[in-house]
Amino acid sequence: MGKHAVKILDLDVKKLIKMLNAALSEEWLAYYQYWIGARMMEGPMRSEIEPELLLHADQELNHAVLVVNRIIQLGGTPVIDPKDWTKLARCSYDAPSDPYIEVILEQNLKGERCAIQRYQEIAEFTAGKDFSTHQMATTILNEEIEHENDIEDWITDLTRMKEEWKKIRL
Ligand SMILES: [Fe+2]
Ligand SMILES: [Fe+2]
Repeated sequence: MGKHAVKILDLDVKKLIKMLNAALSEEWLAYYQYWIGARMMEGPMRSEIEPELLLHADQELNHAVLVVNRIIQLGGTPVIDPKDWTKLARCSYDAPSDPYIEVILEQNLKGERCAIQRYQEIAEFTAGKDFSTHQMATTILNEEIEHENDIEDWITDLTRMKEEWKKIRL
């Protein structure tokens, strides 16, 4: 993005870059959360859910690409040291120390809800002012909403499955 394109933006560009760097850090943490969680996971439906979690991981990485490109276009410096990810991110990284599938899914669900909040805020901040960032934020937001929905569905399926097992045992 040229200097003129940044100059005509009627918003606090520094603040926006800060928000985008927080989002970038959150995407990397979300990527690793999915990527390592999918490999550690144990329990029912593992073989069905694992490739889906890896697909989510890839999508988080694509979000990082969109966000970093936009930071650079805006004349900002993207976060360059992974040590800063946890400092800048508002969404926490939860190490999958308990590999049970429901625990892993709950950790990812928490991350998705945090991401939804993040892109909702970026979309609101840029609405009617920075169309390019706004469009990017809503595109990512839609995918985070789909991710949340996927995870909620898997948790529902697992709960139903457990109820069925209980009935069989009785
Ligand atoms: Fe994401
Ligand atoms: Fe996501």
